[in-house]
Amino acid sequence: MTTPLVEMEGISKSFHGVEVLRDVGFTLYAGEVHALLGENGAGKSTLMKILSGIYRKDRGVIRIRGAIQEIDSPRRAAELGIAVIHQELDLVPTLTVAENIFLGREPRRRRRVGLDRGRMLREAREMLELLGMDLDPALPVERLSMAEQQMVEIARALLRKSEILILDEPTAALTEREIDHLFRVLRRLKQSGTGMVYISHRMEEIFRLSDRITVLRDGRVVATMRTEEATFEALIRQMVGRPLEMRYPKKSVAPGPERLVVEHLSVPGKLHDISFAVRRGEILGVAGLVGAGRSELARALFGLEPVRGGTIRLDGRPIVLRHPRDAIRAGIAFVPEDRKRQGLVLDRSVQDNVLLPTLSRLSRWGWLARGRERAEAETMIARLSIRPPDPARAVRTLSGGNQQKVVVGKWLFQTPKVLMLDEPTRGVDVGAKREMYEIMHALAREGVAILMISSDLPELLGMSDRILVLHEGRVSGRFTRSEATQEAVMIAMAGGA
Ligand SMILES: Nc1ncnc2c1ncn2[C@@H]1O[C@H](COP(=O)(O)OP(=O)(O)OP(=O)(O)O)[C@@H](O)[C@H]1O
Ligand SMILES: [Mg+2]
Repeated sequence: MTTPLVEMEGISKSFHGVEVLRDVGFTLYAGEVHALLGENGAGKSTLMKILSGIYRKDRGVIRIRGAIQEIDSPRRAAELGIAVIHQELDLVPTLTVAENIFLGREPRRRRRVGLDRGRMLREAREMLELLGMDLDPALPVERLSMAEQQMVEIARALLRKSEILILDEPTAALTEREIDHLFRVLRRLKQSGTGMVYISHRMEEIFRLSDRITVLRDGRVVATMRTEEATFEALIRQMVGRPLEMRYPKKSVAPGPERLVVEHLSVPGKLHDISFAVRRGEILGVAGLVGAGRSELARALFGLEPVRGGTIRLDGRPIVLRHPRDAIRAGIAFVPEDRKRQGLVLDRSVQDNVLLPTLSRLSRWGWLARGRERAEAETMIARLSIRPPDPARAVRTLSGGNQQKVVVGKWLFQTPKVLMLDEPTRGVDVGAKREMYEIMHALAREGVAILMISSDLPELLGMSDRILVLHEGRVSGRFTRSEATQEAVMIAMAGGA
C-alpha cells in the first residue's frame, strides 16, 4: 500500500456552537482525483479550508504523506505542498499575471537589489505555455476573463510544485470549451502524480474526471466509492437523502403573444444588430462563449449599457431603456451574474436581502408589513431549502451556494413581465436547481417571458423553448427546442455555421 498524500481522520468543526462537520474522514492518493460532493452547506468548502489552513479544526488528525501535521495557516499549507483554487478566485486584480504567479516568492537579482522582472516574465510565460495558454504575463489580472484567471491560479500552484491541489467549483464560471481545456490540464497534472480534490455541483464533470467520490451530507460522510461504481441516481439519493427524478422537469407552456421584441439592437463595441422575440410563457435560452455578449445583452435590456440604434417593444409598445429605473418601471427584472457586487448585502440578514426589491410593495400593507416580510422570507427559505433556515442569519455566513439561492430567490418570487437570469444556477446544488426550474415554470405559466443565460449547456437544452446563440456580439444561431442538440449549439457558439 502506498501512503496517501492526505489522510483526514475524525475531523469535526463548529461555528458558534453549530456543528458543521462531524467525524469526517477523507483520504487522497498521489495521481488521484477525489471528488467531494454534497448539497449547498454540506461542509465541502469548510473541510477543504481546514486542510488548507484557513480554518482550524476542533477535533481530528491530519496526516500529510504519513506524518501528522498541524496546519495552522495558509502559509503552513503551502509549505506542505497544498494549493487551493478557491470558489472565489483570489488573485490581486491590479498586479500583473507574472506578479500574481510569483506572489510572495519573487526571484531576486543576484548581488543587486530589486526583483528579477525579466526572469519572472520569462518563467511565467513558460508556465502558461505548459498549460496551453497564450497569455501575456505583463497584463494586469483584472483584464483577464474568469477562465484565464483560473489558469493563472493553476500556474501559481505549478510554480510552487504543489502536489496537493484543491479545486473548489473551478468550472462554475467557465464555458464548455474552457472546461475541456481545464480538464486536459488536470489530467496532465494527474499523470505527473498530483493528487486533486475536486468540488463541483455538475455531475457530468464528476463522472468525467474523478477516480473516487465522497458524499457529504449535513457535515457527515455518507459514502466514499470508486467513480466506476457510482450511478447518477444513487449519488443524488445520497446527497439529498431522498430520490429525485428527472433533472429537467421541462413542462411546455403554450406560448402566448410576443412579449419582448428586440430589433436591430446595438451596443457600440459589444453587440451588433441583435434581433429576437420572447413570447409570454416562453423560456429563451441564451448561449455563447465568455465574451460573446450574453451578459451585455441582458444589461442592455436593463438600461445598463448605452444602446445605439434598434428598437425594443414590450407588449407591442416601444420602450426606451436608459436607466435600470426605466426597465423596472416597464416590468423587466434582472438577476445579474456578478452577485457578490450587484445582488447581495452581505452583512444584512437573509430576510432583508430577500425583501430588498419588494420593500415598497409590502409597505402598502402598513403595520402588517413586518409579519408578511417574515412569512415571505420563510416561504423562500423553505422552497429553496436555504440552510440554515433562519431569516435573521447574516448572508455572509452562508455557504457559497446558499448565498446564491438568496439572490436568485428574491427575484423568482416576483411576477415581472420579463425576467432575465444570468447564470442563475451557478454553484447551486441539484435539489435547489430543480426547485428553481419549477419556479421558472410557474412564472412562465403566469405569462412571464424568461430570458436565461447559462454556460451549463445541458441545463440550457433542458429548460429552453428556444435558444439564441451569440458569438462575438452577433447572433450566430437560433434553435427551436427540437433542433437544439449539444453539438449544433456548440458549433454556433464557436461562430461556425
Ligand atoms: N465563517 C462561518 N461562520 C459561520 N458559519 C459558517 C462559516 N463558514 C461556513 N459556515 C457554515 O458551515 C456550513 C457548511 O458550509 P460550507 O461552505 O462548507 O458548505 P459547502 O458544502 O461548501 O456548500 P456550497 O456547495 O454551497 O459551497 C454552512 O451551514 C455554513 O453556513
Ligand atoms: Mg462551498
